[in-house]
Amino acid sequence: MLSRFLSVTARLPDRSLHAGAAPPPPHALVKRGIRRESLPRHVAVVMDGNGRWAQARGLPTAEGHEAGGRALERTVRLSRDWGIRALTVFAFSQENFGRPQVEVDYVMALIQRMIRKNLDEYVRTGVRVHVIGDPSRRPASLQGTVREAEEMTGNNSRLHLALATCYGGRWDIVQACRQLARQVEGGALKPDDIDESLLAGKLATSVVGELSCPDLVIRTSGEQRMSNFLMWQSAYSELYFTDALWPDFDEDEYLRALKSFQGRERRFGTRNV
Ligand code: IPE
Ligand code: IPE
Ligand code: MG
Repeated sequence: MLSRFLSVTARLPDRSLHAGAAPPPPHALVKRGIRRESLPRHVAVVMDGNGRWAQARGLPTAEGHEAGGRALERTVRLSRDWGIRALTVFAFSQENFGRPQVEVDYVMALIQRMIRKNLDEYVRTGVRVHVIGDPSRRPASLQGTVREAEEMTGNNSRLHLALATCYGGRWDIVQACRQLARQVEGGALKPDDIDESLLAGKLATSVVGELSCPDLVIRTSGEQRMSNFLMWQSAYSELYFTDALWPDFDEDEYLRALKSFQGRERRFGTRNV
């Protein structure tokens, strides 16, 4: 298992990744028929299909995750350059702990390596890093990197990048309820005072403030399910599914998702007259 998972992990330099890579020109969106004034403010992504991408190439799964990491770096840069305000990506679910330990360890180490590698760029370019999910399930070294990244980017506000790691939508609701229950127990809150906004304020995504609900949720790899991602926060999100595997998610794919979003009529249960 170990060798099948790791056998081709020699690092190849990826020239597209360096901080100096030219951002797309500001008119790229307009040229593609995207209205800048009605972009989604918060985009969330279920980054799925790394394993199948690797399998299709006869590569070990680890290489699929590496390629997925590169797709994430691209997506962060595009989001930042286009003026999207928040990007929440599903990097590792609580259910993913059910995978072989070697894969769990690899993905955790990859997330840490990616944060470290990009941190300077994020500090310089206004990206604020958040890692959301159960901190008690993160390896200690990753936890240290998370603290450092959150601290070093804490004054940034151009793009909030939330990496959902050891995250589960149901866990998020439960941990929010626990916080409220403690307040009730301590006498600071009455049960009847609890409303949607109070609960939402305790969810892990509340780190991005009023942007905490995604306008658009993208899922790659052809699966059409949420897999316990942002269960509360996606109540009124527009959903976009593409067959592209996550490592192949590029500027064209992202623009197609944005185009689809801009063709939707969001009613939030009301009548648009
Ligand atoms: C998503 O890709 C990454 C993680 C869940 C960590 P997968 O690894 O689920 O890829 P597939 O679904 O097997 O193709
Ligand atoms: C969802 O993908 C989790 C992440 C992308 C991190 P999965 O591959 O775990 O989802 P299922 O098992 O197909 O529902
Ligand atoms: Mg998957």
